[in-house]
Amino acid sequence: MNHFDYINGRLHAEGVPLDTIAAQVGTPFYCYSTATLVRHYTVFAEALSKAGLDATICFALKSNPNIAVVRTLAELGAGADVVSEGELRQALAAGVPPSRIVFSGVGKTRRELEFAVAKGIMQINVESEPELEALSDIAAARGVRMPIALRVNPDVDAGTHAKITTGKKENKFGIEWTRAHEVYRKAQSLPGIEVVGIACHIGSQLTDVAPFREAFLRVRDLVAILRADGIDIRRLDLGGGLGVPYENETPPHPDLYAEAIRATLGDLGCRIVLEPGRLLVGNAGIMVSRVVYMKEGATRTFAIVDAAMNDLMRPALYDAHHAILPVVQPDPKAGIIAVDVVGPVCETGDTFARQRPLPPLAEGDLLVFRTAGAYGAAMSSTYNSRPLIPEVLVKGDQFAIVRARPSYEEMLALESLPDWFG
Ligand code: LLP
Repeated sequence: MNHFDYINGRLHAEGVPLDTIAAQVGTPFYCYSTATLVRHYTVFAEALSKAGLDATICFALKSNPNIAVVRTLAELGAGADVVSEGELRQALAAGVPPSRIVFSGVGKTRRELEFAVAKGIMQINVESEPELEALSDIAAARGVRMPIALRVNPDVDAGTHAKITTGKKENKFGIEWTRAHEVYRKAQSLPGIEVVGIACHIGSQLTDVAPFREAFLRVRDLVAILRADGIDIRRLDLGGGLGVPYENETPPHPDLYAEAIRATLGDLGCRIVLEPGRLLVGNAGIMVSRVVYMKEGATRTFAIVDAAMNDLMRPALYDAHHAILPVVQPDPKAGIIAVDVVGPVCETGDTFARQRPLPPLAEGDLLVFRTAGAYGAAMSSTYNSRPLIPEVLVKGDQFAIVRARPSYEEMLALESLPDWFG
Protein backbone atom coordinates (compact mmCIF):
# COMPACT_ATOMS: atom_id res chain seq x y z
CA MET A 1 0.00 0.00 0.00
CA ASN A 2 1.21 3.50 -0.75
CA HIS A 3 0.00 7.07 -0.88
CA PHE A 4 0.35 7.87 -4.60
CA ASP A 5 -3.21 8.08 -5.91
CA TYR A 6 -5.32 9.90 -8.49
CA ILE A 7 -7.38 12.67 -6.94
CA ASN A 8 -9.63 14.66 -9.31
CA GLY A 9 -7.82 13.20 -12.31
CA ARG A 10 -4.27 14.07 -11.24
CA LEU A 11 -1.78 11.78 -9.55
CA HIS A 12 -0.89 13.02 -6.07
CA ALA A 13 1.76 12.20 -3.52
CA GLU A 14 -0.41 12.27 -0.38
CA GLY A 15 -2.10 15.69 -0.62
CA VAL A 16 0.23 17.22 -3.21
CA PRO A 17 -0.41 17.08 -6.99
CA LEU A 18 2.73 15.83 -8.72
CA ASP A 19 2.42 18.41 -11.50
CA THR A 20 2.67 21.12 -8.83
CA ILE A 21 5.99 19.68 -7.66
CA ALA A 22 7.16 19.30 -11.27
CA ALA A 23 6.37 22.96 -11.97
CA GLN A 24 8.42 24.10 -8.99
CA VAL A 25 11.29 21.63 -8.99
CA GLY A 26 11.60 20.75 -12.68
CA THR A 27 11.85 17.23 -14.03
CA PRO A 28 13.04 14.59 -13.54
CA PHE A 29 12.85 14.18 -9.77
CA TYR A 30 12.32 11.57 -7.08
CA CYS A 31 9.43 11.95 -4.68
CA TYR A 32 8.95 10.12 -1.38
CA SER A 33 5.83 9.85 0.78
CA THR A 34 6.19 10.18 4.54
CA ALA A 35 2.86 8.44 5.20
CA THR A 36 3.99 5.43 3.16
CA LEU A 37 7.33 5.25 4.99
CA VAL A 38 5.50 5.38 8.31
CA ARG A 39 3.03 2.73 7.24
CA HIS A 40 5.69 0.31 6.02
CA TYR A 41 7.80 0.73 9.12
CA THR A 42 4.81 0.28 11.38
CA VAL A 43 3.57 -2.87 9.63
CA PHE A 44 7.06 -4.38 9.87
CA ALA A 45 7.61 -3.40 13.52
CA GLU A 46 4.16 -4.66 14.50
CA ALA A 47 4.77 -8.00 12.77
CA LEU A 48 7.92 -8.47 14.87
CA SER A 49 6.26 -7.48 18.12
CA LYS A 50 3.21 -9.68 17.41
CA ALA A 51 5.64 -12.60 17.03
CA GLY A 52 7.02 -11.69 20.47
CA LEU A 53 10.49 -10.88 19.10
CA ASP A 54 12.91 -8.56 20.83
CA ALA A 55 14.07 -6.85 17.62
CA THR A 56 16.03 -3.82 16.47
CA ILE A 57 15.18 -2.62 12.95
CA CYS A 58 18.27 -1.17 11.31
CA PHE A 59 17.19 0.46 8.04
CA ALA A 60 19.63 -0.46 5.22
CA LEU A 61 20.76 2.98 4.05
CA LYS A 62 22.07 1.58 0.79
CA SER A 63 18.48 1.42 -0.47
CA ASN A 64 17.88 5.13 0.18
CA PRO A 65 20.42 7.14 2.18
CA ASN A 66 18.68 10.50 1.93
CA ILE A 67 18.94 11.96 5.43
CA ALA A 68 15.31 13.14 5.46
CA VAL A 69 14.13 9.61 4.68
CA VAL A 70 16.47 8.18 7.32
CA ARG A 71 15.29 10.77 9.84
CA THR A 72 11.64 9.90 9.15
CA LEU A 73 12.38 6.25 9.97
CA ALA A 74 14.67 7.09 12.90
CA GLU A 75 11.86 9.07 14.53
CA LEU A 76 9.81 5.87 14.49
CA GLY A 77 12.62 4.05 16.27
CA ALA A 78 14.68 2.68 13.39
CA GLY A 79 18.41 2.25 13.64
CA ALA A 80 20.68 2.04 10.61
CA ASP A 81 22.63 -0.55 8.67
CA VAL A 82 25.49 1.21 6.87
CA VAL A 83 28.14 -0.04 4.46
CA SER A 84 30.54 2.88 4.13
CA GLU A 85 31.86 5.88 6.03
CA GLY A 86 29.63 8.00 3.83
CA GLU A 87 26.50 6.13 4.90
CA LEU A 88 27.64 6.16 8.53
CA ARG A 89 27.98 9.94 8.32
CA GLN A 90 24.53 10.17 6.73
CA ALA A 91 22.99 8.04 9.51
CA LEU A 92 24.61 10.25 12.16
CA ALA A 93 23.55 13.43 10.33
CA ALA A 94 19.99 12.09 10.26
CA GLY A 95 20.10 11.70 14.03
CA VAL A 96 20.37 7.92 14.34
CA PRO A 97 22.03 7.17 17.69
CA PRO A 98 25.37 5.29 17.32
CA SER A 99 23.95 2.66 19.68
CA ARG A 100 21.53 1.66 16.90
CA ILE A 101 23.99 1.52 13.99
CA VAL A 102 25.39 -1.66 12.42
CA PHE A 103 28.27 -1.49 9.94
CA SER A 104 28.18 -4.21 7.25
CA GLY A 105 30.16 -4.69 4.04
CA VAL A 106 32.83 -6.90 2.56
CA GLY A 107 35.58 -4.32 2.10
CA LYS A 108 35.57 -1.81 4.94
CA THR A 109 38.86 0.07 4.89
CA ARG A 110 40.98 0.72 7.99
CA ARG A 111 39.96 4.35 7.84
CA GLU A 112 36.30 3.37 7.83
CA LEU A 113 36.78 0.93 10.71
CA GLU A 114 38.62 3.60 12.72
CA PHE A 115 35.78 6.05 12.16
CA ALA A 116 33.15 3.49 13.23
CA VAL A 117 35.09 2.47 16.36
CA ALA A 118 35.60 6.13 17.29
CA LYS A 119 31.85 6.76 16.98
CA GLY A 120 31.07 3.83 19.29
CA ILE A 121 28.47 2.20 17.05
CA MET A 122 26.45 -0.84 18.14
CA GLN A 123 28.15 -3.50 16.07
CA ILE A 124 30.45 -4.21 13.15
CA ASN A 125 29.62 -7.21 10.97
CA VAL A 126 32.99 -8.67 10.03
CA GLU A 127 33.27 -10.56 6.76
CA SER A 128 36.84 -11.91 6.68
CA GLU A 129 39.79 -12.84 8.88
CA PRO A 130 42.02 -9.99 7.65
CA GLU A 131 39.22 -7.55 8.49
CA LEU A 132 38.88 -9.14 11.94
CA GLU A 133 42.59 -8.65 12.62
CA ALA A 134 42.59 -5.08 11.33
CA LEU A 135 39.59 -4.23 13.48
CA SER A 136 41.12 -5.81 16.57
CA ASP A 137 44.29 -3.75 16.12
CA ILE A 138 42.31 -0.55 15.66
CA ALA A 139 40.06 -1.12 18.67
CA ALA A 140 42.88 -2.33 20.93
CA ALA A 141 44.91 0.77 20.06
CA ARG A 142 42.01 2.82 21.43
CA GLY A 143 41.75 0.59 24.49
CA VAL A 144 38.32 -0.79 23.57
CA ARG A 145 36.80 -4.07 22.51
CA MET A 146 34.53 -3.61 19.50
CA PRO A 147 31.26 -5.59 19.58
CA ILE A 148 31.12 -7.73 16.45
CA ALA A 149 29.12 -10.35 14.65
CA LEU A 150 30.74 -12.51 12.03
CA ARG A 151 28.76 -12.46 8.83
CA VAL A 152 28.54 -16.09 7.84
CA ASN A 153 27.71 -17.40 4.39
CA PRO A 154 25.07 -20.12 4.88
CA ASP A 155 25.22 -21.37 1.26
CA VAL A 156 21.48 -20.99 0.72
CA ASP A 157 19.96 -20.05 -2.63
CA ALA A 158 17.67 -17.06 -2.11
CA GLY A 159 15.88 -17.76 -5.41
CA THR A 160 16.24 -14.16 -6.55
CA HIS A 161 18.12 -12.35 -9.36
CA ALA A 162 21.72 -13.63 -9.63
CA LYS A 163 23.14 -10.12 -9.26
CA ILE A 164 21.51 -9.66 -5.86
CA THR A 165 22.02 -13.18 -4.45
CA THR A 166 24.56 -13.03 -1.64
CA GLY A 167 24.35 -16.18 0.47
CA LYS A 168 25.70 -18.84 -1.90
CA LYS A 169 29.16 -20.23 -1.26
CA GLU A 170 30.46 -18.88 -4.56
CA ASN A 171 29.42 -15.33 -3.58
CA LYS A 172 32.03 -12.98 -2.14
CA PHE A 173 30.11 -12.40 1.07
CA GLY A 174 30.62 -13.61 4.60
CA ILE A 175 32.79 -16.21 6.28
CA GLU A 176 32.68 -19.59 4.62
CA TRP A 177 30.24 -21.78 6.53
CA THR A 178 32.59 -24.67 7.33
CA ARG A 179 35.21 -22.29 8.73
CA ALA A 180 32.85 -20.23 10.86
CA HIS A 181 33.54 -22.01 14.17
CA GLU A 182 37.30 -21.69 13.77
CA VAL A 183 37.05 -17.98 12.92
CA TYR A 184 34.79 -17.39 15.96
CA ARG A 185 37.49 -19.02 18.13
CA LYS A 186 40.05 -16.72 16.66
CA ALA A 187 37.79 -13.71 17.23
CA GLN A 188 37.42 -14.68 20.90
CA SER A 189 41.18 -14.62 21.32
CA LEU A 190 41.74 -11.14 19.86
CA PRO A 191 42.23 -8.21 22.25
CA GLY A 192 40.12 -5.63 20.43
CA ILE A 193 37.13 -7.86 19.72
CA GLU A 194 34.00 -8.65 21.70
CA VAL A 195 31.97 -11.36 19.99
CA VAL A 196 28.26 -10.65 20.42
CA GLY A 197 26.50 -12.39 17.57
CA ILE A 198 26.04 -13.91 14.17
CA ALA A 199 25.09 -11.98 11.00
CA CYS A 200 23.61 -13.43 7.85
CA HIS A 201 22.04 -11.92 4.69
CA ILE A 202 21.20 -14.17 1.77
CA GLY A 203 19.95 -11.75 -0.87
CA SER A 204 17.46 -9.10 -1.83
CA GLN A 205 13.93 -9.02 -3.30
CA LEU A 206 13.04 -12.47 -1.91
CA THR A 207 9.47 -13.42 -2.71
CA ASP A 208 9.37 -16.67 -0.75
CA VAL A 209 9.92 -17.26 2.95
CA ALA A 210 11.46 -20.74 2.48
CA PRO A 211 15.07 -19.64 1.79
CA PHE A 212 14.94 -17.38 4.87
CA ARG A 213 13.76 -20.31 6.96
CA GLU A 214 16.56 -22.49 5.61
CA ALA A 215 19.20 -19.86 6.42
CA PHE A 216 17.74 -19.24 9.90
CA LEU A 217 17.90 -22.96 10.68
CA ARG A 218 21.54 -23.00 9.71
CA VAL A 219 22.13 -20.01 11.99
CA ARG A 220 20.36 -21.91 14.77
CA ASP A 221 22.76 -24.84 14.34
CA LEU A 222 25.70 -22.46 14.55
CA VAL A 223 24.39 -20.85 17.75
CA ALA A 224 24.31 -24.31 19.37
CA ILE A 225 27.85 -25.13 18.23
CA LEU A 226 29.25 -21.81 19.43
CA ARG A 227 27.44 -21.81 22.75
CA ALA A 228 28.64 -25.36 23.43
CA ASP A 229 32.14 -23.96 23.00
CA GLY A 230 31.52 -21.18 25.53
CA ILE A 231 31.06 -18.42 22.93
CA ASP A 232 28.30 -16.14 24.15
CA ILE A 233 26.03 -15.50 21.17
CA ARG A 234 23.37 -12.99 22.19
CA ARG A 235 22.45 -11.14 19.00
CA LEU A 236 21.35 -12.47 15.64
CA ASP A 237 21.49 -10.06 12.71
CA LEU A 238 19.36 -11.63 10.00
CA GLY A 239 19.97 -9.00 7.31
CA GLY A 240 17.27 -7.69 5.00
CA GLY A 241 15.92 -9.01 1.75
CA LEU A 242 12.14 -9.23 2.02
CA GLY A 243 10.76 -8.37 -1.43
CA VAL A 244 8.10 -5.91 -2.58
CA PRO A 245 5.60 -6.12 -5.47
CA TYR A 246 6.90 -4.42 -8.63
CA GLU A 247 4.63 -6.23 -11.07
CA ASN A 248 2.89 -9.51 -10.25
CA GLU A 249 5.08 -10.72 -7.40
CA THR A 250 3.40 -11.69 -4.15
CA PRO A 251 6.11 -11.47 -1.50
CA PRO A 252 5.29 -12.85 1.93
CA HIS A 253 3.65 -10.44 4.36
CA PRO A 254 5.97 -9.30 7.18
CA ASP A 255 3.78 -11.35 9.54
CA LEU A 256 4.90 -14.57 7.79
CA TYR A 257 8.52 -13.45 7.82
CA ALA A 258 8.34 -12.62 11.54
CA GLU A 259 6.67 -15.94 12.19
CA ALA A 260 9.53 -17.74 10.39
CA ILE A 261 12.02 -15.96 12.66
CA ARG A 262 10.02 -16.83 15.76
CA ALA A 263 9.63 -20.47 14.76
CA THR A 264 13.31 -21.00 13.97
CA LEU A 265 15.16 -18.68 16.36
CA GLY A 266 12.62 -17.25 18.81
CA ASP A 267 13.50 -19.50 21.75
CA LEU A 268 17.24 -18.76 21.81
CA GLY A 269 17.07 -15.70 24.03
CA CYS A 270 18.85 -13.59 21.42
CA ARG A 271 18.14 -10.00 20.43
CA ILE A 272 17.17 -9.99 16.75
CA VAL A 273 18.61 -7.31 14.46
CA LEU A 274 17.07 -6.83 11.02
CA GLU A 275 18.33 -4.78 8.08
CA PRO A 276 15.36 -4.14 5.78
CA GLY A 277 15.86 -1.66 2.96
CA ARG A 278 13.57 -2.13 -0.01
CA LEU A 279 10.60 -3.21 2.11
CA LEU A 280 10.55 0.10 3.96
CA VAL A 281 11.24 2.50 1.10
CA GLY A 282 10.57 0.77 -2.24
CA ASN A 283 6.91 1.64 -2.63
CA ALA A 284 7.32 4.90 -0.72
CA GLY A 285 9.10 6.50 -3.68
CA ILE A 286 8.48 7.32 -7.34
CA MET A 287 10.43 9.01 -10.08
CA VAL A 288 8.67 11.68 -12.15
CA SER A 289 9.83 12.39 -15.68
CA ARG A 290 8.51 14.35 -18.66
CA VAL A 291 8.09 13.17 -22.24
CA VAL A 292 10.55 15.14 -24.38
CA TYR A 293 9.51 13.73 -27.76
CA MET A 294 7.28 11.04 -29.20
CA LYS A 295 8.97 9.24 -32.06
CA GLU A 296 7.65 6.70 -34.52
CA GLY A 297 10.31 4.08 -35.31
CA ALA A 298 10.07 1.50 -38.08
CA THR A 299 8.35 -1.00 -35.83
CA ARG A 300 7.79 0.81 -32.55
CA THR A 301 6.57 3.94 -30.90
CA PHE A 302 9.12 5.52 -28.58
CA ALA A 303 8.36 7.87 -25.71
CA ILE A 304 11.66 9.65 -25.11
CA VAL A 305 11.65 10.96 -21.55
CA ASP A 306 13.97 13.33 -19.68
CA ALA A 307 15.02 10.70 -17.12
CA ALA A 308 17.58 8.08 -18.09
CA MET A 309 19.40 4.96 -16.96
CA ASN A 310 21.76 7.10 -14.89
CA ASP A 311 18.79 8.31 -12.81
CA LEU A 312 17.05 4.92 -12.38
CA MET A 313 19.45 2.15 -13.20
CA ARG A 314 17.41 -0.91 -12.23
CA PRO A 315 15.81 -1.62 -15.64
CA ALA A 316 19.18 -1.41 -17.45
CA LEU A 317 21.04 -3.40 -14.80
CA TYR A 318 18.56 -6.10 -13.81
CA ASP A 319 15.85 -5.85 -16.50
CA ALA A 320 13.71 -4.68 -13.60
CA HIS A 321 10.08 -3.76 -14.13
CA HIS A 322 8.79 -0.43 -12.83
CA ALA A 323 5.12 0.37 -13.36
CA ILE A 324 4.60 3.59 -15.37
CA LEU A 325 1.60 5.87 -14.95
CA PRO A 326 0.72 9.22 -16.51
CA VAL A 327 0.25 12.02 -13.97
CA VAL A 328 -2.95 13.10 -15.73
CA GLN A 329 -5.42 10.27 -15.33
CA PRO A 330 -6.05 8.81 -18.78
CA ASP A 331 -9.49 8.82 -20.33
CA PRO A 332 -10.39 5.12 -20.74
CA LYS A 333 -11.91 6.00 -24.14
CA ALA A 334 -8.47 7.08 -25.42
CA GLY A 335 -7.39 3.43 -25.67
CA ILE A 336 -4.02 1.81 -25.11
CA ILE A 337 -0.90 1.67 -27.29
CA ALA A 338 2.36 -0.26 -26.90
CA VAL A 339 5.25 2.10 -26.18
CA ASP A 340 8.98 1.78 -25.61
CA VAL A 341 9.80 4.26 -22.86
CA VAL A 342 13.42 5.31 -23.30
CA GLY A 343 15.86 7.87 -21.94
CA PRO A 344 18.24 10.16 -23.85
CA VAL A 345 21.49 8.33 -22.94
CA CYS A 346 23.49 6.93 -25.83
CA GLU A 347 22.96 3.24 -25.11
CA THR A 348 20.20 0.90 -26.15
CA GLY A 349 20.15 -0.32 -22.55
CA ASP A 350 18.75 3.08 -21.62
CA THR A 351 15.25 1.67 -21.91
CA PHE A 352 12.76 1.75 -19.05
CA ALA A 353 10.10 -0.38 -20.69
CA ARG A 354 9.58 -2.24 -23.94
CA GLN A 355 6.17 -2.50 -25.61
CA ARG A 356 4.50 -1.25 -22.44
CA PRO A 357 0.72 -0.79 -22.71
CA LEU A 358 0.09 2.91 -22.03
CA PRO A 359 -2.52 5.45 -23.06
CA PRO A 360 -1.52 7.62 -26.05
CA LEU A 361 1.20 10.03 -24.88
CA ALA A 362 2.22 13.46 -26.06
CA GLU A 363 5.23 15.71 -25.70
CA GLY A 364 5.23 17.39 -22.29
CA ASP A 365 3.25 14.64 -20.51
CA LEU A 366 4.45 13.74 -17.03
CA LEU A 367 5.07 10.06 -16.29
CA VAL A 368 5.57 8.39 -12.95
CA PHE A 369 7.83 5.38 -12.41
CA ARG A 370 6.57 3.53 -9.39
CA THR A 371 8.40 1.60 -6.69
CA ALA A 372 11.50 3.70 -7.17
CA GLY A 373 12.12 4.57 -3.52
CA ALA A 374 14.68 1.79 -3.07
CA TYR A 375 17.88 1.59 -5.12
CA GLY A 376 16.68 4.46 -7.31
CA ALA A 377 18.37 7.74 -6.35
CA ALA A 378 20.82 5.67 -4.31
CA MET A 379 22.28 4.08 -7.44
CA SER A 380 22.15 7.10 -9.72
CA SER A 381 25.18 8.56 -11.44
CA THR A 382 26.09 11.51 -13.63
CA TYR A 383 26.71 9.43 -16.76
CA ASN A 384 26.51 11.56 -19.90
CA SER A 385 27.28 14.51 -17.54
CA ARG A 386 23.68 14.60 -16.44
CA PRO A 387 23.23 16.26 -13.02
CA LEU A 388 21.88 14.07 -10.22
CA ILE A 389 18.16 14.66 -10.00
CA PRO A 390 16.49 16.25 -6.96
CA GLU A 391 14.68 14.36 -4.23
CA VAL A 392 11.46 15.65 -2.70
CA LEU A 393 9.77 14.49 0.50
CA VAL A 394 6.03 14.93 0.88
CA LYS A 395 4.18 15.01 4.18
CA GLY A 396 0.42 15.56 3.97
CA ASP A 397 -0.04 18.68 1.87
CA GLN A 398 3.54 19.91 2.31
CA PHE A 399 6.62 19.09 0.30
CA ALA A 400 10.30 19.92 0.57
CA ILE A 401 13.36 19.43 -1.61
CA VAL A 402 15.57 17.11 0.43
CA ARG A 403 18.38 16.91 -2.09
CA ALA A 404 18.89 19.71 -4.55
CA ARG A 405 19.77 19.36 -8.20
CA PRO A 406 23.43 20.36 -8.55
CA SER A 407 24.13 23.17 -10.97
CA TYR A 408 26.43 22.68 -13.95
CA GLU A 409 28.81 25.14 -12.28
CA GLU A 410 28.97 22.91 -9.18
CA MET A 411 29.59 19.85 -11.31
CA LEU A 412 32.37 21.54 -13.31
CA ALA A 413 33.96 22.99 -10.18
CA LEU A 414 35.14 19.49 -9.16
CA GLU A 415 37.24 19.22 -12.30
CA SER A 416 40.44 21.06 -13.14
CA LEU A 417 43.04 21.38 -15.88
CA PRO A 418 46.63 20.52 -14.84
CA ASP A 419 49.23 23.33 -15.04
CA TRP A 420 50.87 21.78 -18.10
CA PHE A 421 48.06 23.04 -20.29
CA GLY A 422 49.26 26.55 -19.49
N1 LLP B 1 21.80 -6.07 4.56
C1 LLP B 1 22.80 -6.39 3.71
C2 LLP B 1 24.04 -6.94 4.25
C3 LLP B 1 22.64 -6.20 2.32
O1 LLP B 1 23.62 -6.53 1.49
C4 LLP B 1 21.42 -5.66 1.83
C5 LLP B 1 21.23 -5.42 0.41
C6 LLP B 1 20.42 -5.31 2.76
C7 LLP B 1 20.64 -5.55 4.11
C8 LLP B 1 19.11 -4.73 2.35
O2 LLP B 1 18.41 -5.60 1.53
P1 LLP B 1 16.90 -5.27 1.12
O3 LLP B 1 16.05 -5.39 2.37
O4 LLP B 1 16.85 -3.92 0.55
O5 LLP B 1 16.57 -6.33 0.12
N2 LLP B 1 20.49 -2.78 -6.11
C9 LLP B 1 19.68 -3.98 -6.01
C10 LLP B 1 19.58 -4.48 -4.60
C11 LLP B 1 20.92 -4.74 -3.93
C12 LLP B 1 20.79 -5.22 -2.51
C13 LLP B 1 22.13 -5.27 -1.85
N3 LLP B 1 22.12 -5.64 -0.47
C14 LLP B 1 18.30 -3.69 -6.62
O6 LLP B 1 18.08 -2.57 -7.09
O7 LLP B 1 17.45 -4.57 -6.69
